[in-house]
Amino acid sequence: MDPVRNPYTPGAGSRPQALVGRDAEIDAMDVTLQRVLAGRNEQSQLLTGLRGVGKTVLLNEFEELAEGRGYFHEHIEVSEDGALASALASALRRVLLEMDAKRRLGGALRRAFGVLKAFALRLPDGIELHIDVDAVAGPADSGDLEADLAGLFVELGKVAREHRTGIMLTIDELHYVDRPTLTALIVGLHRAAQLRLPVTVAGAGLPNLAALTGEAKTYAERLFTFPVIDSLTDAQAEEALRAPARDEGVEWDPAAIALAQEVTRNYPYFLQEFGKRTWIVADGPDRITGDDFRRAVPLSIAALDDGFFRVRATSSTKAERLYMGTMARLGPGPVRTADVAAALGRTLAALSPTRDSLIKRALCYAPDRGEIDFTVPLFGEYMKRWMPGVRG
Ligand SMILES: Nc1ncnc2c1ncn2[C@@H]1O[C@H](COP(=O)(O)OP(=O)(O)O)[C@@H](O)[C@H]1O
Ligand SMILES: [Mg+2]
Repeated sequence: MDPVRNPYTPGAGSRPQALVGRDAEIDAMDVTLQRVLAGRNEQSQLLTGLRGVGKTVLLNEFEELAEGRGYFHEHIEVSEDGALASALASALRRVLLEMDAKRRLGGALRRAFGVLKAFALRLPDGIELHIDVDAVAGPADSGDLEADLAGLFVELGKVAREHRTGIMLTIDELHYVDRPTLTALIVGLHRAAQLRLPVTVAGAGLPNLAALTGEAKTYAERLFTFPVIDSLTDAQAEEALRAPARDEGVEWDPAAIALAQEVTRNYPYFLQEFGKRTWIVADGPDRITGDDFRRAVPLSIAALDDGFFRVRATSSTKAERLYMGTMARLGPGPVRTADVAAALGRTLAALSPTRDSLIKRALCYAPDRGEIDFTVPLFGEYMKRWMPGVRG
């Protein structure tokens, strides 16, 4: 069918034509934003879930809500090296610049800019933000990140409140942040929340994020709920496929829907990818049949293998691949690390560096003590397709 009208546009983080099944999170966030702006306490959200379930698109929705509610908003995507503090400084600088530009605040922001400048200079990587004011010593430059972030959020929160607005940050891939930095973020935000300042953060990360909050756990639980974002239900998956096509006057046959649900296991990213390829091969003009879907399967799998799956697998070492191949063979689902060791004829201790690096690189996570699983849905099947010869 007409490729120009293809309504399935995969791409990590890009909004699907129909965002289904996330109303509860969206509604809760909207209430939170209104309450926080009104100086009331309310929990924000740290979304957790596997790759491709729709965490980033949900954060994007939150961001639109925030803008609609009159917040100044910035987005941060944490990179694999885990650097957060300097990214926060840059994001908050953009927030202040935007506040300045939109509200013509000028001199009223001098102090906040100065505090931010001192904060950034004091960071271990000592970035110099191009801010044309003198650094203000005191509130956020002690060198203790917890105290300094608290000082910074309080300073900026007060400015926001004075000017009847709020500050909202969305932080994606939060699992890459090391525990002390994550703790500092939570403690800093907690301070601003105690003072009922209009500053809030919504975050997303892989399933190990909840455990990463460590000793800041009690604060984290006061500040955030931890919605688990997962695959869709059958009905939601059906809607995710049907709604975009319907807008183009195209209907899916029930047989095609049933096949799609089975093959994709209702994972949003897979639905999108299979939907796109099915559209490409379908004869049309106004229906998608089971046969269309079947012919699109090899194409869709190849596209996923060469993109979504391979980008995760590349740059893994031989030892890591052997470990993951063994997990795949023992799976699907969480496997016991002791069973991986036994299958490889090694001790747990000898394998723990490999296990740790797989977790650190976010290819795997520990669903429970002594267990390990892939962070990418259906990754075990990919390993079996590409590494059938892996021996343990
Ligand atoms: N609720 C949803 N309904 C329909 N499609 C979705 C939904 N959530 C995600 N998708 C699709 O899945 C893709 C992957 O989502 P993304 O937010 O990047 O996942 P994550 O951040 O969890 O890895 C999106 O680009 C979108 O096409
Ligand atoms: Mg994402």
